[in-house]
Amino acid sequence: MKHYSSLLTELTLEEKIALIHASGLFQSGGVPRLGIPPLKMSDGPSGVRQEFQNDAWIPDGNNMDAVSWLPSNTCLCSTWNRNLARKFGEVLGEEARGRGKDIILAPGINIKRTPLCGRNFEYMSEDPVLTGELAVPLIGGIQEYDVAACVKHFALNNQELDRLSVEVEVDEKTLYELYLPAFYAAAVTGGAHSIMGAYNRYDGDFCCEGQKLLFTILRDKWGYDGVTISDWGAVHDTEKTALHGVDIEMSITPDFDDYKMAKPLLRAVEDGKISEEVIDEKVSRILSLYERLHIGDENRTRGSINTPKHRQIIQEIAEEGAILLKNEREQLPLSKDTKRILVVGDNAKRTHAAGGGSAEIKALYEITPMLGLRMLLGGEAVIDWLAGYYIDNEEHVKGEVDWQSISLEVDYSTAEGKDKLEQEIIPVRNKLLREAVEAAPDYDEVIFVGGLNHAFDVEGFDRMSLTLPYGQNEVIEALAEATPHLTVVLINGGALEMPWADKVSAIIQTSYNGMDGGFALARILFGDVNPSGKLAETYPLCLADTPTEHYQSYPGDFSKTEHRYTVYKERLLVGYRYYTTKQIPVRFPFGHGLSYTDFSLLGTTHEVHAATADDEPVLTVTTTLANTGRCAGKETLQLYIGIPEEEQPVKVLKQFEKVSLSAGEEKEVSLTLCQRDLMVYSAATGSFSLPAGEYRLYLGTSVEEICYEATFSPIAES
Ligand code: BGC
Repeated sequence: MKHYSSLLTELTLEEKIALIHASGLFQSGGVPRLGIPPLKMSDGPSGVRQEFQNDAWIPDGNNMDAVSWLPSNTCLCSTWNRNLARKFGEVLGEEARGRGKDIILAPGINIKRTPLCGRNFEYMSEDPVLTGELAVPLIGGIQEYDVAACVKHFALNNQELDRLSVEVEVDEKTLYELYLPAFYAAAVTGGAHSIMGAYNRYDGDFCCEGQKLLFTILRDKWGYDGVTISDWGAVHDTEKTALHGVDIEMSITPDFDDYKMAKPLLRAVEDGKISEEVIDEKVSRILSLYERLHIGDENRTRGSINTPKHRQIIQEIAEEGAILLKNEREQLPLSKDTKRILVVGDNAKRTHAAGGGSAEIKALYEITPMLGLRMLLGGEAVIDWLAGYYIDNEEHVKGEVDWQSISLEVDYSTAEGKDKLEQEIIPVRNKLLREAVEAAPDYDEVIFVGGLNHAFDVEGFDRMSLTLPYGQNEVIEALAEATPHLTVVLINGGALEMPWADKVSAIIQTSYNGMDGGFALARILFGDVNPSGKLAETYPLCLADTPTEHYQSYPGDFSKTEHRYTVYKERLLVGYRYYTTKQIPVRFPFGHGLSYTDFSLLGTTHEVHAATADDEPVLTVTTTLANTGRCAGKETLQLYIGIPEEEQPVKVLKQFEKVSLSAGEEKEVSLTLCQRDLMVYSAATGSFSLPAGEYRLYLGTSVEEICYEATFSPIAES
């Protein structure tokens, strides 16, 4: 084992500086004289990204960099399954090592503050407990393979519009109770070896430069000793970054020696403006990382890519991450005796792996829903496909065109755009819709596969609405009129409006589900797999109902500063916290997801314990979960708490457990909370404490489907 840490005293100042900034688009600098290699990095959350040239965003022509494409974090989180998160991490870590990487730029764990955020598909949830509970095992899985997870983007990176410059104002309580807990879990409980600072501004500074986030909170309060890395191009000021911010500066241009933490920093140290001790602290954390990753050790894990085991895990996650939102008249599962199936919609045939921005993957292969159906039914049924709607280049996202460019060809709000829409687009849409609707009655089953794609779920842009694009609402409504045998499948990275939801019998939501996603979907549709996914975010009735619309707190404006400034006026009332507190009806609540079997809870009780320390249990809720239906299935029990403090939402998720039961089986399940789980932050004291008073507990299968409700008072003994 090489002792990198002891090399600190042997390094020249220039060599130390080399270690703390990039020497390539995806690598830090090394020190050849002392045998310190560069740290090799790669995106990202859904697998190991293709290889680029060292100094240009051009693929390096490598044909060995096609890898397993993992489901998006949205899909993973919808499984509510910690074991699968661990396996997900293991696949990611093993493949990263297999591709010779030291740091994988994942997971993305920002809170889904508004469903419009273009990167929501890369994030987990609107809830910090659920996010943290899945991030921790995921990080453990990655790091088991001697690869560092790089948790991103720290912090308050909740919109893509003007992401490089926007400033966020958020009150302390909301920061500590909503936006930081998942990062705390990832950094402290999960032991993530690295953390990526965000692009946006907070507290008057860019996140990678300001004192508060990376220094006061992360280092001082949380005692974090891992390595901090800038987002690519997020560093603007040499001295601030050196003093408070990141350990390694990364960026998007090839002038590596001119990065702020390169020659300008060297000059600042030589001029006595920055002490060399500041550099030493960064270098010593970086050298410890080499040791943590066993770099240079002949026993370091080697890793591998594209193994059958990885495929099997990816399929399992896709199967558990799909959500049965609605299933009336037992529309699903479909019978394998079905002879004629009509599939309608672009997402039945579209591949998604190569899109989305830095989460793009050069997938070894991608099974689309159409291929998946063909594979599953093995030629026993006629499966026809019709487009149903037309994919145009409507301007549908808002943001800045940075280094990720996508085509925004027509703006339909202009006179020219309106003409194009009326004369060219609408006639084609009408024709495709008519074809599908006329054909539908001739088939035993019609499966609509639509939703979004990476023109919407994309880095650098936010969506402009929650409306299904390309006229899909009209197609679904018309198909629902034309046939009673309609199943709607939506592939998307964030919430959508479904004005037709009452008119269709079955709705399945899946995200970008990895290389075997289409096969996983077919297995769910035809009952080989019983769906068990649960929404990790609320699906509101319409955009106007969302908290940031209500509080007019997104996307911010320029009235206060020259850059965009966003005040998080909704405070703690994000996602279900808002809808449940303000009693706003939603389309599908947080935590919702159906099954082909039925479950019931029997004899639920709760017990209060006296706790003398924060990590001691204060409450245990015990129930017997019974599978009363006809097939094996999984249900996720969710424990929400109402904390007696004025500003608290009425219900906050505190614990959950996913349980697997065969038909007729019963299992006793206990969910326990520690004193720490119930604590709230006070901006006045700058600390967490347990409010006195009467708490409410809600045990259910979603935030609205509550089976047991009670009050209790925690007993805190000093
Ligand atoms: C993204 C990061 C990503 C980095 C490197 C940035 O634009 O925000 O998430 O890891 O690029 O590709």
